[in-house]
This record gives sequence, structure tokens and C-alpha cells, in this order.
Amino acid sequence: MSDIKLLKLIAREAGEIVRRGYHSHKEIHHKGVVDLVTQYDVETERFLLDALSEAFPDHTLVGEESYTGSWDLERAIYIDPIDGTTNFVHGIPHLAVSLGVWEGGEATMAVVYNPILDELYWAERGRGAWLGEEQLRVSEDQTLQNALIATGFPYAKVNRGAEYRWVVDAIAEILPRIQDLRRLGSAACDLSYLARGIFAAFYEINLKPWDVAAGILLVQEAGGRVSNLAGEPYRFGDRGIVTGTPAIHRALLEALPPYI
Ligand code: IPD
Ligand code: CA
Ligand code: CA
Repeated sequence: MSDIKLLKLIAREAGEIVRRGYHSHKEIHHKGVVDLVTQYDVETERFLLDALSEAFPDHTLVGEESYTGSWDLERAIYIDPIDGTTNFVHGIPHLAVSLGVWEGGEATMAVVYNPILDELYWAERGRGAWLGEEQLRVSEDQTLQNALIATGFPYAKVNRGAEYRWVVDAIAEILPRIQDLRRLGSAACDLSYLARGIFAAFYEINLKPWDVAAGILLVQEAGGRVSNLAGEPYRFGDRGIVTGTPAIHRALLEALPPYI
């Protein structure tokens, strides 16, 4: 079986655990004031670590719930067992298992699987981005005023510190200039929607590699742009990520406030 087929199969199997959990009672623990984790995040990650270590023995497995090392790795799979845990807890079906394979500093394979809607987004470098059998392209909308844009809010907002201020300033700056803004609660799904042509752009600060490792490749392979807030190539650990169709990415970079 090819590597991408194996990755899709493992994501689907992990998705079964997530789907079972979505319809069951959950034990909810707090990683921070508003940052939640359930037994299903942990169980799904454990399953993924077992399955991926067997299928991809040469890759470092960077799982959200267990990994503590450096993010800068030669060959790695960045794993978010449930991206959108707050949605998972509240019964909102915008969530996914996200698996991003990176080699030599670039994404090579990606799978984002929403087991509730049974939507499987995948990409291979140089071979396009797909939803099942359908090839994806970013939207052709050229004006910021027609753009439906997605974002997210960092958990650190509760401190009303610099992150909170930036989020509020960014909204104040762009809201009058765009069609509308969405905060749906899963960066991996948001990036998949951008690749699919639903959103014209997505931006957020303080994301971790497992939130975006797969979605970045989906967007790039669907013809979109990905950068940090300064417009430079995005690297894990950068303060912000800005992604979009080529035209809207450029316009959004100009409109967003710099991160201090
Ligand atoms: C979160 C989601 C959310 C984003 C947060 C992430 P989690 O991931 O992607 O949309 O705004 O910043 O941490 O905690 O549900 O895996
Ligand atoms: Ca996440
Ligand atoms: Ca998660």
C-alpha cells in the first residue's frame, strides 16, 4: 500500500474513536482555563502513535497530548488527534484528526479527516489537494470586500494581554473591509475549507505545528499562499500564520496589524 493510502487508512481508524466519543459521555479536564482535553483526545492519540510508529518507523511522532521535544525535525509527523476539542465537547461537528508529514523542512503528505461529516481531505506534495476523489482549488474571488475569512482566538486571550489586544485590533481593522469573519473552532478544518474554496483566507496567532502541519500542504496544493505575519515563509513557532488565495493573502497581510 502507498504511504498516502496508509496515512488515510490510519486517519479513518482514528476517526472511529473520535466519532464514538462524540456521541458518548466525556470526561473533561482543563489544560488551561479554557483549554480542554477529554479521554478521547488521549485515546485517539495513543492509537495514532501505535499505528504510525509501525507504518512510519523513521519519522518522529509529534503528538499534541504527549510530545515535549523540539519542533524542528528532519522527518516528522505532526499529530492532532482532535483539532476542535471545544467543538467536540459541545457537540459541534467542525473537528478533525489532523496528520501532517514533513521532511527536510517541508510538508510532503497531509490528511485532515472529519469523522462526524465523513470528509477526508488529503494532499501529496506536487500531486494536488483532494476531498475524497474531488480535486480542490482555492476560490477565485479577487476582492477583500467579497472575502469570507476564517480566524481563531488563542487560549491565552483570558489574560487580556498582548494576544488578546492583537486579536481585537485585527478584527477592528479588517471587519469593515471584508464580507464577514468566521471563528469555527478548528484550524485544520478552516485550512481545509480554504483549500476547498469556501474561505478566501485564514489567519490566527499562537498556533502549534499539529494545528497547521497538514492544512498548510492542503492550501499550498490547492493554489493558496501561506506565510507569517511579515509575509515571510511560515515556520513552526512563528507568532502568526496568514493564508489565503494569492490576491486575498496579499491584501490581508497589508490590512492586519503587526504582532508586537
Ligand atoms: C485549537 C483549534 C482552534 C484554534 C486553537 C487551537 P484544539 O486546537 O484549532 O480553532 O483557535 O488555537 O488550539 O485545542 O482544539 O486541538
Ligand atoms: Ca489543535
Ligand atoms: Ca487537539
